[in-house]
Amino acid sequence: MTLTNTRDRYGSLSIALHWLMLILLAAVYACIELRGMFPKDSAERALMKDLHFMLGLSVFVLVWLRLLLRVISPTPRIEPNPPAWQRGLATLMHWALYAMMIGLPVAGWLILSASDKPIPFYGFNLPALIAPDPDLGKQIKGWHELIASLGYWLIGLQGRRCAGKSAACRARRRPVPPARARRAGLSPCTAAQGEGPTALRSPQ
Ligand code: HEM
Repeated sequence: MTLTNTRDRYGSLSIALHWLMLILLAAVYACIELRGMFPKDSAERALMKDLHFMLGLSVFVLVWLRLLLRVISPTPRIEPNPPAWQRGLATLMHWALYAMMIGLPVAGWLILSASDKPIPFYGFNLPALIAPDPDLGKQIKGWHELIASLGYWLIGLQGRRCAGKSAACRARRRPVPPARARRAGLSPCTAAQGEGPTALRSPQ
């Protein structure tokens, strides 16, 4: 496996980043949901919130690396090529996810800035983006919460799409049955190694 993507498969860097982002996003959501288990003003509740802020800001840092990878290396094609409407929908969902991974952390940073609260980041305090303005802070918080709720759906739908895509990839790598290989004029060895034409290896 290569470090960056090729036309046929994802590289190890893309795969590692994909899973890291997924784990980070799950942790960001989990921390903010778990805060409700602890009493107001408790140290545990504050810790959950701080973790939410820091992990959310980590998503913001890593998303740029993901975007850079997308620009410098190709996106592997899906075989067989899905219909245009499916590709369009997938692209739309992809960009919505990127917008969420950039927009939510920025909105969170703005909430804390407007509320005149510290913005913790692994032992540092980040500078405020705007001057204190509690009303504006509340307004942005409303948007942050709304987009975060939509994010649950987006991540769920993206998860379904990835599962479908990897099932198709696994099916493509399955050896071609000998009878089909003979009909297509492939040697049984080549077929068994999954080296036959893509059309033969596509899911049925
Ligand atoms: C991808 C990143 C992020 C996601 C998915 C996300 C998601 C969420 C969710 C689900 C909530 C709870 C909404 C509710 O209670 O209904 C929330 C609240 C909040 N988030 Fe984020 N967030 C992210 C990043 C950030 C960042 C980076 C910050 C700050 C630097 C931040 C600051 C806040 C604040 C201040 C609240 C309100 C907390 C409270 O009132 O107890 N978020 N976020």
